[in-house]
Amino acid sequence: MALWSGRFTQQTDSLVQKFSESISYDRRLYPFDIQGSQAHAKMLAKQGIISQDDAEKIVAGLNDIKKDIDDGNFDFSIALEDIHMNIESRLTERIGQPGARLHTGRSRNDQIATDERLYMRYEADDISLHVKEMQRSLVQLAADWPNLIMPGFTHLQHAQPILFAHHLLAYVEMFGRDRERLADARKRLNRCPLGAGAIAGCTLPLDRKFTAEQLGFDDILHNSMDAVGDRDYIIEFLAALSIIAMHLSRLSEDIILWFSQEFAFIELGDAFTTGSSLMPQKKNPDVAELTRGKTGRVYGHLMAMLTTMKGLPLTYNRDLQEDKEGLFDAIDTVKLTLATMSAMLTTLKPNEKNMAAAAADPALEATDLAEWLVKHGTPFREAHRQVGGFVAFCNQKGIKLNEASLDDMKTVIPTATAECLALFNPRKSVEGRALEGGTAPVRVAEQISRWQELLKE
Ligand code: ARG
Repeated sequence: MALWSGRFTQQTDSLVQKFSESISYDRRLYPFDIQGSQAHAKMLAKQGIISQDDAEKIVAGLNDIKKDIDDGNFDFSIALEDIHMNIESRLTERIGQPGARLHTGRSRNDQIATDERLYMRYEADDISLHVKEMQRSLVQLAADWPNLIMPGFTHLQHAQPILFAHHLLAYVEMFGRDRERLADARKRLNRCPLGAGAIAGCTLPLDRKFTAEQLGFDDILHNSMDAVGDRDYIIEFLAALSIIAMHLSRLSEDIILWFSQEFAFIELGDAFTTGSSLMPQKKNPDVAELTRGKTGRVYGHLMAMLTTMKGLPLTYNRDLQEDKEGLFDAIDTVKLTLATMSAMLTTLKPNEKNMAAAAADPALEATDLAEWLVKHGTPFREAHRQVGGFVAFCNQKGIKLNEASLDDMKTVIPTATAECLALFNPRKSVEGRALEGGTAPVRVAEQISRWQELLKE
């Protein structure tokens, strides 16, 4: 019998039961549901709404139920719809009357919002740790290869020489902001809905602040309708997860390119690559590909939730039950992806020879030549035009930029000197970019140390 069946004369149709249950997935909220109920019961007792004795029985009974669920000794029933009613009816079965007092001054509407917020607060911290692990793997790899030069790309075309470590640290920065975003979302979700009831608050003298404090919330939600009606905290969280997934996907794409025969910039460990059932020679970067692929799924959950919310009148509508599976899947997906990708990175070995060969393309130093001219008085636009002319000249002659003589160069760059010929040197080029944030080894070494410090326990 459903806990709300008082006014009903017919049993719920079995199709409706199957259609509307959430226990098959919201059961993961049980530790938080129990935590919320225990705080609520203590508050009820403190306010004299239930007896101290009843509160103690409720708290103890819920501890026993928690243990049963932990141990896999709990039969979840879809007839009881969701985690809230599964736990509550088991409690009443066990401890009788006091259990029937637990739901005083509470609705499943404020209960579910509380459970979700507690769960997400926990996950925000846990995901942040996973992202930190990812950063550590990247920083370690950068520290292992602090001077390795490779071509940097814009438009996937050779742009300028960069340090491999600089490329990796770019992702460390991105993941750093991802952690800030999680911390920020956590701040906004760490507020307590309990006391909002179904919609309008409660006629009983609840102490909302007391409940909130016991649950470690920073504040209560100050409007009961907002407390039960919105899911912006889920949307914001999914947005933060989507951005993490996007960053992981770009990293994956870099890895997939580098691992291709055309680039051959890196090796990946056998334990983190897979073979083909048909082509015996294959070694595929499936972890990176799946990461890229799973990103679409995470974005999908964000879009689904935005869409679910957009037309809902205030306040609670059952549509809101659809907030969970996508959130859970996004969380599970991002965490497993982070763990797998961080582990894969520890097996990544750069191919120094191939990176050096690619970085030896003297066209990568065309900007260095233009900036040399600027240092010697040529306006940048003019310098750019002259160097462009020099590139065209070399292309026409079928030679590389560093194969031209000084006289050749002077035909299009009249102020060129022998110094210009020496610019076609990737090491000099990276060393020259020593501004804060630049790819010079001194700067990159500083950033490696900075991150090592920041990522310490
Ligand atoms: N399982 C429900 C959900 O997740 C809990 C709230 C149900 N409230 C209600 N009025 N039916 O949204």
